[in-house]
Amino acid sequence: MIIAIDGPAAAGKGTLAKRLAAHFHLAYLETGLLYRAVGLRILRARQNPADAKAAAEAASSIAADDLHAPELRGEAAAGAASIVATHPEVRDALLNFQRNFARNPPGDVKGAALDGRDIGTVICPERDVIKLYVFASLAKRAERRVRELQARGESPIYARVLQDMRERDLRDASRGVAALKIAPDAFKIDTSDLTADQAFAKALDFIKSRTRPAG
Ligand code: DC
Repeated sequence: MIIAIDGPAAAGKGTLAKRLAAHFHLAYLETGLLYRAVGLRILRARQNPADAKAAAEAASSIAADDLHAPELRGEAAAGAASIVATHPEVRDALLNFQRNFARNPPGDVKGAALDGRDIGTVICPERDVIKLYVFASLAKRAERRVRELQARGESPIYARVLQDMRERDLRDASRGVAALKIAPDAFKIDTSDLTADQAFAKALDFIKSRTRPAG
């Protein structure tokens, strides 16, 4: 079983993906961390995230071990990630890692759940893949991100978080390659007014309807 979950930042993809992964015994890959790891590597080397060649080089050696640094969760890594993610060379360099994770997940599991922006459209577009598109209003997503940052001990300013998120949304949706799009066969979940439990229940209903044997 492969579950692909796409959607904008802070829409609730990660929470849902983790719960589905636990429920169905799947390995979970948060693909945003790959782009964040590339962004962080570029920032640490004092290079420019807009430099496609430098970013592709950084992406070519990213491995599972690079996905644990706490700094990956910060806004600096997120900003750099959304810029390096616009380079087709970077996306190409990360493609095989993601496809391989989906088809040959690590550990004794029954499949994989991946969340990101282009999982159902580019990484795993095949028909047998269960695709979910999770979204919420910009205001709700900014509120959630503020709470997340506060929980990490930061003191975010709501207006600033909202503005950053708006810019990142625009970049994700308008870039030439693998722009955030809804796969035609994706099940859409608007989490603006849903609890995590309600979003999970909706996803589960859909997945059961998809996987129920015919007849
Ligand atoms: O989901 P996130 O905020 O951790 O993602 C960080 C950036 O990485 C985001 O601006 C878009 C990019 N990204 C992407 O282009 N494709 C993915 N599959 C996941 C993330």
